This record gives sequence, structure tokens and C-alpha cells, in this order.
Amino acid sequence: MGEHLNIAIDGPSGAGKSTLAKSVARELHIRYLDTGSMYRAMALYAMRRGVSVSDEAALEKILGDADIQVRFDERGQRVLLCGEDVTDSLRTQELGMGASTVSKHPCVREKLAELQREVGRNYDVVMDGRDITTNVLPNAKYKFFVIATPEVRAERRLAELRLRGNTAETYDSVLADIKARDLQDSTRAYMPLRRTEDSVLIDTTELEPEESLQKVLNVISEKGSR
Ligand code: DC
Repeated sequence: MGEHLNIAIDGPSGAGKSTLAKSVARELHIRYLDTGSMYRAMALYAMRRGVSVSDEAALEKILGDADIQVRFDERGQRVLLCGEDVTDSLRTQELGMGASTVSKHPCVREKLAELQREVGRNYDVVMDGRDITTNVLPNAKYKFFVIATPEVRAERRLAELRLRGNTAETYDSVLADIKARDLQDSTRAYMPLRRTEDSVLIDTTELEPEESLQKVLNVISEKGSR
């Protein structure tokens, strides 16, 4: 049995990583793992247990009980928290910020990174997150770093929220959330978001999703045929 194909994608919130990763996975007929959803599930677990996402000592105590599992079915990835499928409740701004804070703690990162590495060992997979190229899959055959301006990311995020019927957020509140998360994700002491030298930069600011996909596929076919 040979090694599995691993494609690693990092970048800030809302840069288009998940859209890109999903379409790459579809094109190549491999799985897509959204690692952010696992941090979101961890934030949800802390909230349910009444533990602050900033309280490292308290988090460490409940970490052993935080049973987070990933399954794949015809809908794609499902996240199970203590056996309950919580996938559809994870994509809120509150859990996004909660995930960003909970992910600062090394004990949380180590636990989730190990689960993610296991997926990489068992499947051909495209994985996206903040530390996939640096920590989870440093030896991935293909690595990408996806960026876009904060303003464009805020516009896209707002359109996505509106599509899901959320009218509470405004452009300004979404932009503020994006900037706060950028700062927190890139300045944390342990495994901050950063681009590795061997990651191909994809700036999606002026690209249609189809164009970003094409860039990634071009890199894969060029490098793959060498
Ligand atoms: O990609 P997302 O918005 O679902 O991620 C939510 C937060 O989780 C993000 O702001 C930082 C954290 N995260 C992380 O630290 N490492 C990852 N691999 C994925 C997400």
C-alpha cells in the first residue's frame, strides 16, 4: 500500500480556502477535510461544559472527554461531538471566534492535529486550515497558501451569511470579525498562521472560484508530471 495523496491548504478566514479545497477534492475524486470545523466543535464543547475558551487549565481538564470524530458520507464531512452530529450548527461567527481562541492552546492543537494526521495517513485528502502546511502535513506533496484582501473576504462572508438567511450581521461587523481573527490566528505563540517557503501563493482577490481551481490544478499537473 503506497502513501496517500495529501494536499495542504492554509490561509486566513474567508480567503476562499474551503471553496477551493472542496472543488479540488471533487476534481480529483478525493476527500476534503475542513479542520476549522474541528476547532469549532471544540469551542462548542467548551461552551456546553460552561468552560471559557480562554481558560487553558480548565480546557485541559475536559479535553479527554471531548470526543470529536470525523466521518465521511455522501454529504461530505460530518463532525461528531460525543456521538452527536453537530456539523450543521458549527458555522456561526460566535463559534468562529470561539474556535480562534480555543485553538491558541497547545493541548487543544495537539489533540486535533493528531486526529487530522490520522486522516492524512488513511486517505487521499485535501485539508484546509491554519497550520496544515506547517504542522499537520508538513510533508504534503502539494502545499498552497490562499489569501485575499480583508475587504473582499468580508463581502464574500456577508453574501454567504445572507444566503443562509442571516440578516443580523453588517459589512462592518463582519470585517471587524475577520480582522480580529487574522490578528489572533497569526500572532498566537504556538503554531501561528504563516506561509511556508514551499507553499504556492494563490491570491483570490480578483479571481473567480473556477480560476483559483485552475491555478491549483495546473500546479498539481506540472509538479505531478515532473
Ligand atoms: O476555518 P475556520 O474559520 O472554520 O476556523 C475557525 C478558527 O479555528 C480559526 O479562526 C483558527 C482556528 N483554526 C486553527 O487554528 N487551525 C486550523 N487548522 C483550523 C482552524
